[in-house]
Amino acid sequence: MGPGRMWHSDRVLEAVLLVGGQGTRLRPLTVTTPKPMLPVAGVPCTEHQIARAREAGVTRVILGTSYRPEVFSEYFGDGSRFGVELVYATEDVPLGTGGAIRHVASLLESGPDDPVLVFNGDVLSGHDIAGQVRGWRENEADVSIYLTRVEDPRAYGLVTTDPEGRVLQFLEKPATAEECVTDQINAGCYVFRRSVIDSIPIGRPVSVERETFPGLLAAGAMVIGFVDVGYWLDLGTPLAFVQGSRDLVTGKAPSPALPGPIGDFLVRPGAEVAVDAILRGGTFVGAGATVGSGAIVDGSSLFDGAMIAAGAHVKDSVIGSGAIVGSGAYLDGVVVGDGADVGPGNELTRGARVWPGVVLSDTSVRFSSDR
Ligand code: GDD
Ligand code: MG
Repeated sequence: MGPGRMWHSDRVLEAVLLVGGQGTRLRPLTVTTPKPMLPVAGVPCTEHQIARAREAGVTRVILGTSYRPEVFSEYFGDGSRFGVELVYATEDVPLGTGGAIRHVASLLESGPDDPVLVFNGDVLSGHDIAGQVRGWRENEADVSIYLTRVEDPRAYGLVTTDPEGRVLQFLEKPATAEECVTDQINAGCYVFRRSVIDSIPIGRPVSVERETFPGLLAAGAMVIGFVDVGYWLDLGTPLAFVQGSRDLVTGKAPSPALPGPIGDFLVRPGAEVAVDAILRGGTFVGAGATVGSGAIVDGSSLFDGAMIAAGAHVKDSVIGSGAIVGSGAYLDGVVVGDGADVGPGNELTRGARVWPGVVLSDTSVRFSSDR
């Protein structure tokens, strides 16, 4: 810890990760794996987040799970392998983002006035986590919300602030163009005063975005914005997911959970890539995956054991574990589920999704859709 004012109490700094969502928009990848556990450049998003939180001084992490909780506990255990103490709070029925935060309260060790970090579990970011906690303390805030700017804010929580950074309004997913009054959005990481968490209603679904934040603002609570326009990405859609993987491989997205510095591609030990195959654009090749002679894999993510046959061309796509892409096939912007088999010569374009285990053998059929 640096010199100067000692803000830190000797207590642990705790972080809550909200990882209970179903990840519907990422199907079929999320049929078996919860979205935050999908490997981004080979490492679950949750692991990237834990590594970054730990770097910022977090020593204790509570995972707020609901959908497929066992996938998390089997991988992370008690957290010791990841340098943090890890505990789990599992909702019997999903309680929403605010309900999930309230649900973990009984497991928190922080005192009433201590800061507790809360992360949306599907965000890759390079923001200054420790700086956000510092700003929360310096302003004696109730809540600090990490804010960033995006071109199209409609899918997010819009947050307006005054010149001092105090939050004026929080509007989740604006319904009309007139409501889009700012491009400044909720980037999905909060610092809560612990006592504010305790004030969220217990035992029923609560949306932190639609209920808790507007309620705090109406009550005159000190809610501040922490603007950081560094790397930020919500991994909500397949295209965002391949982009996140790409950005981690090329080093554009920072993560202490990856060996760095990296480059144009990252190949895990145990993968086999033909000498004349071309890997580029931040491609990730998982353990045991194979890429055949003359194949081109561009900006894509190959999960463990995926197989790209000779001469296939795979661009901006995710190929699930053990899935096969046949020789000469062309894929652009596609999600291939675990164990699926895209037969030779198929051409699948932007938005196509092949469900796990499906076999496509007819090379004359052309699949495409815009989602
Ligand atoms: N435990 C638990 N229980 N977790 C949940 C639940 C629940 O009932 N519902 C959602 N989550 C988790 C999801 O797993 C995800 O990690 C996080 O909460 C946010 O949910 P999303 O479904 O991904 O929300 P979003 O992307 O549409 O919008 C949210 O994130 C945006 C930034 O990425 C909002 O917070 C927006 O305001 C924000 O701009
Ligand atoms: Mg999201």
